Amino acid sequence: MRQERRRTKISAAIFSAAVVLSCAPVFADSHHDMHSGHEAPVAKGPFTRAIDKSLVERGRTVYLTNCAQCHGKEGEGDTHWRHRGSDGKFPPPPLDGSGHAWHHPLADLREMILEGSRPGEGNMPGWKGKLSDDDIGAVIAWFQSLWNDDVFEAWHQIDSRARSDKP
Ligand code: HEC
Repeated sequence: MRQERRRTKISAAIFSAAVVLSCAPVFADSHHDMHSGHEAPVAKGPFTRAIDKSLVERGRTVYLTNCAQCHGKEGEGDTHWRHRGSDGKFPPPPLDGSGHAWHHPLADLREMILEGSRPGEGNMPGWKGKLSDDDIGAVIAWFQSLWNDDVFEAWHQIDSRARSDKP
């Protein structure tokens, strides 16, 4: 009960923060500083979710041109993505928050997109030399814009942890 009321308050805070900061870039470099100041340990804490509309718009174009034929128009992926197909490879997973792309910090998502599938795992081509770093940032921002707040927040925690683990 108390927990629930707290969540509602937090969501309201997230909402107003998002409105205030809606012009800020999605992946500000100062990201990992955002957690300073609130009591630990909280599984879920206030964070800022700022969606950069023009970046997302650019990402949509990159996505529809290069990714949609495999991952689906809305990032829904293949229904059988969890199991290897008859060719022994994994079908394209969803990127819309219903798969597990959110388990990966930003740097790993970039790496996966640059490198493509590991041999025998799937048929995703690598995008190194084909898409710019900015296009890759934009396409990630696009599929992340499909994630609900809980999924995004869970990813954000994983990503912040990965950043602060770096020397
Ligand atoms: C030819 C089909 C194909 C195309 C085109 C393709 N992908 Fe993939 N993608 C896959 C497959 C298959 C996998 C899963 C198998 C694997 O891990 O190699 C995958 C995995 C991923 C993952 C990891 C997801 C997770 O849950 O871990 C991301 C992120 C991703 N793709 C993004 C993209 C983006 C962005 C584009 C366009 C720039 C793209 N893909 C284009 C087939 C494709």
